[in-house]
Amino acid sequence: MKPKFYITTPIYYVNGAPHIGHAYTSIATDVLARWKRLDGFDVFFLTGTDEHGQKVEQAAREQGVDPQAFTDRVSADFQDMTRKMGISNDQWIRTTEERHKRSSAELWRRIDAAGDIYLGHYEGWYAVRDEAFYDEGELTTLADGSKLAPSGAPVEWVREPSYFFRLSAWQDRLLKFYEDHPEFIAPTSRRNEVVSFVRGGLRDLSISRTTFNWGIPVPGAPDHVMYVWLDALQNYVTACGFPDESDPHWKYWPADVHIVGKDIIRFHAVYWPAFLMSAGLPVAHRVSSLGWWLVDGAKMSKSLGNVVEPRKLAETYGLDQIRYYLLRDKPFGADGSMSHQAIVTRINVELANDLGNLAQRSLTLIARNGGGQRPGRGPTTEDDAGLLDAAAALPGRVRICMDQQTFHEALEEVWKVIRAANGYIDRQAPWALARTDRARMGTVLRVLADVLRAVATVLQPFMPDSMAKMLDQLGVPAEVRMLVDLATPLADGVTLPPPQGVFPRYVEPA
Ligand code: MSP
Repeated sequence: MKPKFYITTPIYYVNGAPHIGHAYTSIATDVLARWKRLDGFDVFFLTGTDEHGQKVEQAAREQGVDPQAFTDRVSADFQDMTRKMGISNDQWIRTTEERHKRSSAELWRRIDAAGDIYLGHYEGWYAVRDEAFYDEGELTTLADGSKLAPSGAPVEWVREPSYFFRLSAWQDRLLKFYEDHPEFIAPTSRRNEVVSFVRGGLRDLSISRTTFNWGIPVPGAPDHVMYVWLDALQNYVTACGFPDESDPHWKYWPADVHIVGKDIIRFHAVYWPAFLMSAGLPVAHRVSSLGWWLVDGAKMSKSLGNVVEPRKLAETYGLDQIRYYLLRDKPFGADGSMSHQAIVTRINVELANDLGNLAQRSLTLIARNGGGQRPGRGPTTEDDAGLLDAAAALPGRVRICMDQQTFHEALEEVWKVIRAANGYIDRQAPWALARTDRARMGTVLRVLADVLRAVATVLQPFMPDSMAKMLDQLGVPAEVRMLVDLATPLADGVTLPPPQGVFPRYVEPA
């Protein structure tokens, strides 16, 4: 039986249109989901939209639309973006679905039954943009007396009856959990932040609101709606069929990796495990946090007019090109700045030159000199063996990086082999061998074809369409494109389709 692997993106707020930050989050998750499938896992990949709360309600009101009609529309737009980014999710979840309302109510009842919920009164600061409560000490006061959350979001003073979750009682158990599961929070810098936040002491968390009603009603207290984050986090469990443990998806819980942005690590690494432990549910194995994209050094914002639309970006540069750029150009956990120049350089140097030309040169030589047939391999030299060994080691090296979500390092491992293959083709000069030693030429071209096969196989999760084309041209049958298949040599003498460039250079429009 295949081992299971459950992976999630955050569910996206539907208060506005999708931008590149959302697309990046989904693409990174997609690359890992595809990698795990390639590596023989039974993958369940979930994404969707977070539709309740004050922020979404306000956005609907500003447009003069009923919140349900509004969220239907924006969720559909997110779904369209998801499809256009080549995301291979198995389910799309919306928190306004009936199944999710049932599941959230049951989570509430279980936490309540555990004695972790009590009725009180909340009085304090709230940032609608973050849907988060803040302590006075966390805020910055501006010259005009108004206050901002650490995220830069404006805060307002709220005062209302509220149910509370006894988070303070979970401090020691959370610290013990982090200690027993050092891999739970990645990268380490975020883990350290979370641990010191929890060590600093936890206050009980307000988990219901009464001043608006766009949310899931609290069981037995219909004048309260659940705090949007309680409902949102539960989406990951809803999709597994909760509370119906006979659901075919139940076997996937707990999640193997929640991919989240650095801004929402506290919700996933502090509140979420506490809710789950309280409800008697297993806790997710890992929360892996990504850094933010800036644009030409600046934070994206509507007022600056620099919000990047992912579908447009893919139209301009190509989808696989963008997927590659986003995962290559900055370390996953760190912030980075995108620019037109950086995208063009990655496309022209790494995709068009390093990889595209290597494939094109090798396949053209095979087409012209070997009757278009995949040559057999004669005796191998040290140079051949060095390159073949590096290619054979690729799946293992890339796997180590993928397990840590260091995607840029995974790509660097692949490019080391690509660069070595470019050195090899120049040294071996198969075009000259065509006149002097055709048997040796055949071996060199076969070594190159085998190395390209390994490279294209491991790159499939990053650039699915382009690598499918490359594997077609290498004559690799569709049913032997898994990592495990690399151990079986391809047949000699098979006729390959005529070579076609996979990565055109980006040329500035005139
Ligand atoms: N709805 C919550 C998540 C609930 S999960 C149970 C939420 N939604 S969000 O739409 O605001 O953000 C979704 C993700 O997009 C977050 O992980 C956030 O970090 C990410 N990004 C938003 N802007 C981003 C960039 N500029 N760059 C990279 N990712 C960014 O939070």
